[in-house]
Amino acid sequence: MKRIFITATNTNIGKTYTTKLLLEEFAFRGIRVGAIKPIETGVASFPLDAQEILTSLKRLNNEFKDIKIDDIAPITYKLPAAPFVASGNAPLDLKLLDDAVEKIEKLCDLLIIEGAGGLYTPIDKDFMMIDLISHFGASALLVTHCSLGCINDTLLSKKALDDKNIKYTVAFNCRENDNDFAITSKDYFLKSNLDVLKVGENIKEICDILLEI
Ligand code: GTP
Ligand code: MG
Repeated sequence: MKRIFITATNTNIGKTYTTKLLLEEFAFRGIRVGAIKPIETGVASFPLDAQEILTSLKRLNNEFKDIKIDDIAPITYKLPAAPFVASGNAPLDLKLLDDAVEKIEKLCDLLIIEGAGGLYTPIDKDFMMIDLISHFGASALLVTHCSLGCINDTLLSKKALDDKNIKYTVAFNCRENDNDFAITSKDYFLKSNLDVLKVGENIKEICDILLEI
């Protein structure tokens, strides 16, 4: 069983967008794919990330036909905030997440786990999102952005992953208006020996690396 945790430098960077592209590519290669969004906040009536993921899964893996949204999104909160805040400071129920993962893993050989927010998004008093990666024994994909500030944001998240000895690779989710990336940031990454692989253009290479690490 391969577990890949999708994290990002912040919320709204493109974790769900990237998750869906990865599911497509892995499924295209004949891999039985699965995915879960263990904790989703900002859920008014329905967990939208989990819904997007489940729609993809039902198309890509027949074994998900009877899987319900609660199976993909086992913990949800209404407030659009970090889980620790949104839960009213409740302690994390890890057993609930372990059981949810166990159920989904019966249906797949590769599990994608989408985090919430970034690596130091607090889940409870002493558990951060990054700790969930270690708990699940997953390797990670750090999705970063291409706007000004991406060097600082990317290096901070890389350092956090390095410090916890988590295996990971980085993917850039550049948007249409990120025209300055080549001028302001790209060369820095290349000179620092960090390949600039883009989610939109290099999903195959990103999948290759994720299967190796
Ligand atoms: P949270 O899970 O809420 O923390 O966000 P996220 O990191 O999963 O971001 P998500 O993938 O939901 O992307 C945020 C918004 O930007 C969504 O509306 C996406 O459809 C949109 N989006 C993400 N990536 C791209 C992209 O490359 N191009 C365009 N046009 N839209 C994108
Ligand atoms: Mg998302």
